[in-house]
Amino acid sequence: MELIFATHNQHKTQEVLEILGGKWDVKNLHDLGCEEEIPETSDTLKGNALQKAQYVYEKYGVDCFADDTGLEVEALDGRPGVYSARYAGEHCSFADNVNKMLKEMDGKNNRKACFKTVIALILKGETYFFEGRVDGEILTAATGEAGFGYDPIFRPDGFEKSFAEMSADDKNAISHRGRAMQKLVQFLNAL
Ligand code: IMP
Repeated sequence: MELIFATHNQHKTQEVLEILGGKWDVKNLHDLGCEEEIPETSDTLKGNALQKAQYVYEKYGVDCFADDTGLEVEALDGRPGVYSARYAGEHCSFADNVNKMLKEMDGKNNRKACFKTVIALILKGETYFFEGRVDGEILTAATGEAGFGYDPIFRPDGFEKSFAEMSADDKNAISHRGRAMQKLVQFLNAL
C-alpha cells in the first residue's frame, strides 16, 4: 500500500520507515514533488495534523497521513505545546529552541515535561486519528548528538539518557511519535 507522509522532515520520515519496517511504501512530500510549506494554523495538535493531511489529500488525491507534535512543559504552563517548532521565533533552528528552553528553565526545580503526537490519517476519504505521549523531564544541559529538535534536552522517564543519546530503535519504542505510529500500524494491519 502506498501512503504519503505529509512532511518534509527527513528525520521523521526515517523514523517512520524504521517503525513500519518496510511493510508499506511510505513516501514524503519531496517524493511527491510538493515543496511548498503546508499551512499549520490551528491552535491544537489535532487541528494541525488534520489540516496537513487534508491539504495533501485535496491537492494530490492520495492516501496520506500527517503528524503534529508538541512539547508541553509543566513549569511553563504547557508551553511551547502546539508552538514547539516556532518557540524561539519564526524560522528558528532546533538549537535556537533548545537554548531558549534551557534559559527559560534555568533554576526551575519542576522539570516535568511530555511530548504529545497526533497523527491524522486519510484513507479512501475517511479520517482517523492516533495519539501518542511520552513523559519525562527537561535536562539542565544538552547531551547527545542523535535525533533532532528537543532530543538533547529531553530525558524520558525510566531512562538515564536523553533522547539524543538513545539509538533510533530505543527512541522509537517509547517515543510519542513511535507510540502514535504503532497505533497507526496496528490499524493498518487490521484492515
Ligand atoms: P512537528 O510539528 O511535528 O514538526 O513538531 C514540532 C516541533 O517539535 C519540531 O520542530 C521539533 O522541534 C519538536 N519535535 C517534534 N518531534 C520531536 C522529537 O521526536 N524529538 C524532539 N523534538 C521533536
